[in-house]
Amino acid sequence: MANTGESNIVMFPFMAKGHIIPFIALALEIQQKRGYTITFVNTPQNIIYIKSSIPQTQNSSSSFRFLEIPFSSSYHAFALEIENTDVLPFNLIFPFVQASYSLKDSFRSLFCGLVKKQPDNPPLCIISDIFFGWCAEIAHEFGVFHAIFSVIGAFGMGVYYSSFLNLPHKKTNSSEFTLPDFPEASRIHISQLPYSIHEANGSNSISEYVQKVLPAWKDSDAILFNTVEEIDQIGLLYFRRKLGRPVWGIGPILLTDRAGKQTGITKEFCMKWLKTKPTKSVLYISFGSQNTLLPSNMMQLAVALDKSGKNFIWVVRPPIGHNIDSEFEADKWLPEGFESRINEENRGLIVRKWAPQLEILSSKATAAFVTQCGWNSALESLGNGVPLIGWPMAAEQCFTCKYLEEELGVCVEVARGLACEFGNEHILEKIKMVMSGSDKGNDMRRKACEAKQLIQNATKVEDGFKGSSAIAVGEFFNAALLKKEEAKLKSLKI
Ligand SMILES: *[C@@H]1O[C@H](CO)[C@@H](O)[C@H](O)[C@H]1NC(C)=O
Ligand SMILES: *[C@@H]1O[C@H](CO)[C@@H](O)[C@H](O)[C@H]1NC(C)=O
Ligand SMILES: *[C@@H]1O[C@H](CO)[C@@H](O)[C@H](O)[C@H]1NC(C)=O
Repeated sequence: MANTGESNIVMFPFMAKGHIIPFIALALEIQQKRGYTITFVNTPQNIIYIKSSIPQTQNSSSSFRFLEIPFSSSYHAFALEIENTDVLPFNLIFPFVQASYSLKDSFRSLFCGLVKKQPDNPPLCIISDIFFGWCAEIAHEFGVFHAIFSVIGAFGMGVYYSSFLNLPHKKTNSSEFTLPDFPEASRIHISQLPYSIHEANGSNSISEYVQKVLPAWKDSDAILFNTVEEIDQIGLLYFRRKLGRPVWGIGPILLTDRAGKQTGITKEFCMKWLKTKPTKSVLYISFGSQNTLLPSNMMQLAVALDKSGKNFIWVVRPPIGHNIDSEFEADKWLPEGFESRINEENRGLIVRKWAPQLEILSSKATAAFVTQCGWNSALESLGNGVPLIGWPMAAEQCFTCKYLEEELGVCVEVARGLACEFGNEHILEKIKMVMSGSDKGNDMRRKACEAKQLIQNATKVEDGFKGSSAIAVGEFFNAALLKKEEAKLKSLKI
């Protein structure tokens, strides 16, 4: 359905880069393909980041608006004023999530102001984060459609949702268990649960928070997942059953050309380097914006790379115990002479801070991806047919890794959590398995290529063919427009 007259969509991501970036990608997609204006709501520092990340083409600059929502972390007993999880150690991330509940009243006032400005033409919908399901209540006060946009895949999110609400590990003495409302997820091991779920006990502040925000998903008009029906059906079916709401896979929503990015290496240099390497010969290693390794594991990974003789691109960050944004000191944290030897042999790139990930994954030279199994990274990898070596560290990453390994067969787990320690032989064995033509490695690559086809088809629209995500987006807009029509009729009658 075409958009007539100016119509606005309000977007409200959680304050973490891994959430904000897919929201920006979704905003660009909706603005470009459907002509809506987008109003981003977020805290002042994050608004600056969002603004700088949107490509300033003439075409789009007037289509984005920004509304600042006040937030004071020091009020919630954080030592510093922070607005984004990027600077937090892992044990403080969930308290920060909990503090975000205080945004509710401010959001109501902001949204009320927005509606009053154009009473004849209220926003079409609010699309908010998984942690901001409470926006549904506010949207509905004004007769507006509400959708949650999950930046996490449906399987990983399903296990997270179910284990947080059911706390199955508290009801057994066994280290393995199943989920009462999600048996299809099969067995979960206690070591796969994140810190926040371990801490929840059913009545402490974590649990109180979770019981407020996760069941509130039922109030939403729809749940959108950045995923593809054909590769993530178990999780999507779980939420359809659980919530009795439309649950749509609309992915992959990926940010292809990120503006204003601080890069440790230019895209051109990186691509030129990859072109000199044989097909499927390079291992790409990155743990995302939020994670890093224990000093001992960083050392062991370097030794494994050395012994493997494989080409690699490794995005490094200071190890645990050091400020993640400080300068990376190769002579301290990597084996002696490692970086200069790698440079001399022209065998690897050690990249500080950030690398052009999507370009690296789409290169023919890339053979496999060592990743924390964040969902964005998994989608980017599979969208290019690249198998994964999983090193899940936090939140739902262990569940995603389990799914990629056990259900899709495109991944092998090399380590779990931040605290595990092991020798280089263990890592070396996995690298060899995936990169040196073993049956298992070949099978993973074949399955990753199948996933690639499914992912590419999902958003395709051509004569006589419409992919599942393209259909889902259409259904979502129809539902939102219908609600707007209904609200209009209702107000005319009064
Ligand atoms: C766990 O073990 C304790 C001690 O053996 C026992 O009292 C308790 O009932 C067990 N709990 C469950 C859920 O099996
Ligand atoms: C959970 O933790 C809170 C706070 O530490 C405590 O007061 C409460 O008794 C605990 N509840 C259960 C069921 O263990
Ligand atoms: C992808 O879409 C094409 C039509 O464009 C179809 O012929 C093909 O079978 C699809 N592949 C998969 C794996 O679904």
